[in-house]
Amino acid sequence: MAADPTSDIADVGLADDGDARIEWADRSMPVLARVRERLAKERPFAGLRFAACMHVTTETANLVRALREGGADVALCASNPLSTQDDTAAALVARHGVRVFARSGVDVETYYRHIDAALDIAPDLVFDDGCDLVNTLHASRTELLGGVRGGCEDTTSGAHRLRRMAEDGALRFPMVAVSESTTNDMFDNRYGTGQSTLDGIMRATNLLVAGRTVVVAGYGLCGQGIAERAAGLGARVVVTEVDPVRALDALMQGHQVMRMRDAAAVGDVFVTATGNAAVVNTEHFAVMKDGAVLANAGHFDVEIDVRALTSLAVARRRVRRQVEEYVLDSGRRLLLLAEGRVVNLAAAEGHPPAVMDLSFAVQALSAVWLAREGSALAPGVHAVPADIDREVARLKLLAAGLEIDAMTTEQLAYLRSWRQGS
Ligand code: ADE
Repeated sequence: MAADPTSDIADVGLADDGDARIEWADRSMPVLARVRERLAKERPFAGLRFAACMHVTTETANLVRALREGGADVALCASNPLSTQDDTAAALVARHGVRVFARSGVDVETYYRHIDAALDIAPDLVFDDGCDLVNTLHASRTELLGGVRGGCEDTTSGAHRLRRMAEDGALRFPMVAVSESTTNDMFDNRYGTGQSTLDGIMRATNLLVAGRTVVVAGYGLCGQGIAERAAGLGARVVVTEVDPVRALDALMQGHQVMRMRDAAAVGDVFVTATGNAAVVNTEHFAVMKDGAVLANAGHFDVEIDVRALTSLAVARRRVRRQVEEYVLDSGRRLLLLAEGRVVNLAAAEGHPPAVMDLSFAVQALSAVWLAREGSALAPGVHAVPADIDREVARLKLLAAGLEIDAMTTEQLAYLRSWRQGS
């Protein structure tokens, strides 16, 4: 149990390990470090209270450090029951003055109790990853709504939920869709999800990817990243899609394209990244090969129909950490990773810090914008201001010691003019 009664963590004794790993991540997060220094000088969050529902990882810890340097009081809870790094949670409580309500492997009831506990801070700004905290605020903590100036949402699935709330006229404050900023979309979704998903599958199974057929459901930026990394490791990649343009893109990238019902019989590993429910279901379980591996990379645990798999199984047992074997009556064994929850965070460490550097620098700067101008923004979903995106990319290049060209006066004039043709 936590030493600090205002937190609920697994073991405060893990703080040393957590701090060492937070520092290790920090080495790959130079942009966030620059932002942190700026926040320490300017103190834009002085006197403000933040509630954050995010994956409790070393990268998030560095974001929270930056927010704290900016003057904020922060309460943090987990955005997934399996993604908490207990040592990181301990370090945040013991060394960084953060109230943390997160333990790895909690049940759904505790997960929501932790969200409630984080909300007890009575936040001025909120940080969400999947919209569970914003949803809870609007459903059962309405007394706090008036005090919230705005917030940031970190994932595509969360932004989707927020838009449905806004359409229903339910969303009561402005939320910035950080996941849709250009830097986040291009780098976090593609390179972050791509690498960390394969990392999660390999850590959970120790499987040789080369020569296997990997079926990727969904060819958005996350699916593209997963397909690229799987192909890079020597897999034959099959893509399933509902969008004809994306399916065509997958084909032109050299992947096979088919319906899930056809892919089900040939795949060795299935990875879902669609944001939709029951993409892999009973019809597919019925024809899968013995030993097929099922993993989900989407935010919510709805993409693989785990309930249907459970009711089809005649036996079930844990065969390795984060690997559950479901035996069907035909004797075929299907291997479900991380309970069908987000595999890159449950079985590995999530996106590497070098990529979260961009996402979290965008998030910290968006928070500054919200703290200053949130009250002037209408309730609804807002884009990250374009200058924040450009500034973060510029700082990342600077940190890498790279310089890029600037347009000449003649080039600027050429682009502004319509008179000069061939
Ligand atoms: N989402 C994906 N990867 C993450 C990470 N490393 N930390 C926090 N949130 C994440």
